[in-house]
Amino acid sequence: MKKRLTISAMAKMKQEGNPISVITAYDYPSAKLAEEAAIDVILVGDSLGNVVLGYDTTIPVTIDDIVYHSRAVARAATNTFIVADMPFMTYGISKEHTLINAAKIMQEGHVQALKLEGGIEITEHVKALVGAGIPVMGHIGLTPQAVHQLSGYKVQGKLEGEAKKLLDDAIALQEAGAFAIVIELVTEQIATIISQKLHIPTIGIGAGRSCDGQVLVYHDILQYSSPNYAKKFVKTYANLGEIIRNAIGEYVTDVKSGQFPQEEHSFQSPNHNIDNLYGNQDK
Ligand code: KIV
Repeated sequence: MKKRLTISAMAKMKQEGNPISVITAYDYPSAKLAEEAAIDVILVGDSLGNVVLGYDTTIPVTIDDIVYHSRAVARAATNTFIVADMPFMTYGISKEHTLINAAKIMQEGHVQALKLEGGIEITEHVKALVGAGIPVMGHIGLTPQAVHQLSGYKVQGKLEGEAKKLLDDAIALQEAGAFAIVIELVTEQIATIISQKLHIPTIGIGAGRSCDGQVLVYHDILQYSSPNYAKKFVKTYANLGEIIRNAIGEYVTDVKSGQFPQEEHSFQSPNHNIDNLYGNQDK
């Protein structure tokens, strides 16, 4: 049976050049299928705001949303390492506030680690969490919670000074005790340098071929009614949206035309029960 990874096993995977596979999941069936497919890590990302809850950004996602979805994932993926996002402004205000919120997600969400967006500016919070025994995954580059500050979902690392800042952020997170760092929408060259300089694994999304692992959003790779599947960095592995739409369309047609249900879908009563019933009605 598949065994849940540990953070030291992930560090070893980096040393041995064994790529780490990560996918998001937000509910019982998606997590179950991901575990059955031998995924290394499941991320209960705040991308659930976009792909499950229909928000434009991840900003409205709450701790309760993350806890609710994490619990379902944890019930399904009992042998997979699960990371949950700390949502917008649930960290970074004060260390006490960060710790209280982190404790809620860990205790009620039943996950093994937390992910926080940001670099040098959040390292004190990362240190506090790691000091409290909580494994922390960093997240740099395009950090969706800061989408308005970044003026949109743009590739990072192209402008003068951006590359140095990304590297400084990654090193600061590593020094603060992060066990891995997601690098999102960063040029392949910069992600390569960061991955080479760090001893902790980097997990890329739209960050090229050299990261120590890759993460993609479940609904994106399956074209499962996702607003994001047309993105350059997403590879489509199945078109579930089309399969599901066609299947529901056929069901609608069958119901309207009387093709469903058939005798095989129906339950029958013994004859004497029916006779009694007709008898009652006649009285
Ligand atoms: O929320 C999320 O799904 C993420 C991934 C895109 C890395 O942060």
